[in-house]
Amino acid sequence: MKKTLLITGGAGFIGSHVVRQFVTNYPDYFIVNIDKLTYAGNLENLKDLEDAENYRFEKIDIVSPAEIDSVFNRYKVDGVIHLAAESHVDRSIANPLDFVFTNVVGTVNLLNACLKNWKSNFQGRLFYHISTDEVYGSLDQGGYFIESTPYDPKSPYSASKASSDHFIRAYSNTYKLPVIISNCSNNYGPNQFPEKLIPLAINNIKNNKHIPIYGKGENIRDWLYVIDHARAIDLIFHRGTSGETYNIGGNNEWQNIDLIRLLCKVMDKKLDKAEGLSAKLITYVKDRAGHDLRYAIDSGKLRQELHWEPSVTFEQGLELTVDWYLNNEEWIKNITTGEYEKYYQTQYANR
Ligand code: NAD
Ligand code: DAU
Repeated sequence: MKKTLLITGGAGFIGSHVVRQFVTNYPDYFIVNIDKLTYAGNLENLKDLEDAENYRFEKIDIVSPAEIDSVFNRYKVDGVIHLAAESHVDRSIANPLDFVFTNVVGTVNLLNACLKNWKSNFQGRLFYHISTDEVYGSLDQGGYFIESTPYDPKSPYSASKASSDHFIRAYSNTYKLPVIISNCSNNYGPNQFPEKLIPLAINNIKNNKHIPIYGKGENIRDWLYVIDHARAIDLIFHRGTSGETYNIGGNNEWQNIDLIRLLCKVMDKKLDKAEGLSAKLITYVKDRAGHDLRYAIDSGKLRQELHWEPSVTFEQGLELTVDWYLNNEEWIKNITTGEYEKYYQTQYANR
C-alpha cells in the first residue's frame, strides 16, 4: 500500500534534495511537496522530477491553517517531513517577525493538522522536524553539542527554531503525537541560495566581486554536504525511534577564513586564474550582530545507532559544489536579479 508523505519546504535548498531522495528511492510512496515559494523556494530545483508519477507540488503557505487543511483534506497524509522555514540568520536580524510566523506559527499549524487528522490512530504516523544545531547556542574552542545539550538560542532565527522544537516536544508529551527531531550543522552543496556563505563566495569570485568576511573570519562552522544530510533524514525517518532527537554533523570544522581560502584555491583552478588571485577579493566587513563563535556537532548517536556516515569528504563536496554552480549559470542568473540585488545592497551597503 502507498504511503503519502508531506514534505514541507521541498522547493528550497535541503528540501529539494530530500524530495529527490524520497521520490527516487521509494516509488511506493506518494510525495506531496508543499511550499510557499518564497525568495528561497525555486521549482527549478526539482525540474527533473516534474513528471514523476509519485510526486506532486502544492503551493501552500504553512502560516495559513486553511491552506494546510485543504492539503490534509485532499491527501491521506501518513507522515510529515517538515523543512519549510525562514532559514537565514542575517534576514532574521532584520525581520524577526517573519521568522516567528513561518517557523513558529507555521510549525504549530502543521502540528494541529496532524493531531486533527491522526488522532484516531497514531499507528504508522510520524511528524519529523528538520531543525538546526543553532538551537544549542555557541561553543568556545572546546566541546561538542550532544542531543541533551540545553537549548540556548542566540539569534532571532535560532530562537524561532528552538521554539518550534519546544512545541513539537510539547505535542509529543501532551497529545502523544509521534515525533522525531534532528538538529543538523551547516549544509553546503547544489541549489543553496547565494545569500549563504559558500554560494555567495562562489558567485562573487566568479563575478570578480569582494568576498565579505564578517569580523575577523574566526567563527567556526561544521560543514556537511547536503546529500549526506538527505541520506541521514531518510535513515532517521525509517529507522529512528519516535520521541527521539538525532544530531547530524560532518565532523568537519572550519574557521570561515580558512574555508574561504580553500574555496579561493579551488576557484583559481576551475577558472584558470593565477594562484592567489581569488583570495585578493577577500574583504573583512562589519561583524554580524551577536555572531555565534562556534558550532560543532557530536553525531555519535546517529553513527552508532543507525550506522550513518557521510559519503564524501569536504574536499570532494566542495569541488562538486563549485562545479555545480559553474555549470548552472542560468540557475544563478535567474535568482540574482530583483529581490536578491535589493537584499544584497541593504545587507552589505554599510559594512
Ligand atoms: P531554504 O531557505 O533554502 O528553503 C526554505 C524553503 O521553505 C523554501 O523553499 C521556502 O519557499 C519555503 N518556505 C518558507 N516559508 C514558507 C511558508 N510560510 N510556507 C511554506 N513554505 C515556506 O532553507 P534550507 O537551508 O533548505 O533549510 C531547510 C530547513 O533545514 C530549515 O528548517 C532550516 O532551519 C533547516 N536547517 C538548515 C541548515 C542549513 O545549513 N541550511 C542546517 C540545519 C537545519
Ligand atoms: O548551523 C546550521 C545553520 O547554518 C542553519 O540552521 C542555517 O539555516 C544556515 O543558514 C546556517 O547558518 P549560518 O549563519 O552559520 O550560515 P551562513 O552561511 O549565513 O554563515 C556561515 C558563516 O559565515 C557565519 O559564521 C557567518 C559568516 N558569513 C556569512 C555571510 C553570508 C560571512 O563571514 N560573510 C557572509 O557574507
